[in-house]
Amino acid sequence: MLIEAQGISVAIGGGIVLDDESLRCKTGIMTALVGASGSGKTTLLHCLGLLLPVDKGSILIDGNDVTRYSAAARRRFWRDHAAFVLQDYGIMDEESVAFNVTMQASFIGKRVSGNKERLKQSLEQTGLKNRGNELAGHLSGGEKQRLALSRAIYKDANILFVDEPTASLDATNRRMVIELLADFTARGRTVIVSTHDSEMIAACGAIHQIGSSNSSH
Ligand SMILES: Nc1ncnc2c1ncn2[C@@H]1O[C@H](COP(=O)(O)OP(=O)(O)OP(=O)(O)O)[C@@H](O)[C@H]1O
Ligand SMILES: [Mg+2]
Repeated sequence: MLIEAQGISVAIGGGIVLDDESLRCKTGIMTALVGASGSGKTTLLHCLGLLLPVDKGSILIDGNDVTRYSAAARRRFWRDHAAFVLQDYGIMDEESVAFNVTMQASFIGKRVSGNKERLKQSLEQTGLKNRGNELAGHLSGGEKQRLALSRAIYKDANILFVDEPTASLDATNRRMVIELLADFTARGRTVIVSTHDSEMIAACGAIHQIGSSNSSH
């Protein structure tokens, strides 16, 4: 799926956060959103993922203007096409690691359900093999980040929105996550990553510098 921003601007609390940003995020290419801390990477990622409304400009998906999508249409987009790995992880601490991946449980006994093989693979791919029965709240920050990625892999969405995926990881896990995202992209997915990490940026096929598409510059 092709996701585009055309001249989008966002003001939060009276301050301009994004000013006339335009970019195209193509299928099969990993796009990096780069810029200094506070430049608006997370804000732009949220706008592209329809999590945050824009004040000016348009968001397009496969050429269709979705800027004024209804709440129901946005929910359908999230459910059917998108996966998010955001800075606050979205992990449910009171639930098991496995439940956090499949997000499905049986009514009786609250046993985790879903596709067992895919669950196993998505945990293995992020280095969380055999950790499915642990309480998610007991994981470290970096492990929770990888758990959020396992959930996205399990969902196998068309579009992956990822905020600073390597920020709190050591070199080995960083490389693993970068390879994983590159592999996901190569399988015909659209991957958009906000990042400071030079290795992560090097693995991206397109780089969008915040502020660079501003027509007044
Ligand atoms: N909900 C909010 N309320 C007030 N200000 C906000 C809000 N969200 C973002 N901002 C401001 O918008 C600017 C951009 O924030 P954003 O989180 O998009 O930056 P970033 O490039 O992702 O930074 P970092 O690299 O530190 O994650 C910052 O100055 C921030 O303070
Ligand atoms: Mg950010």
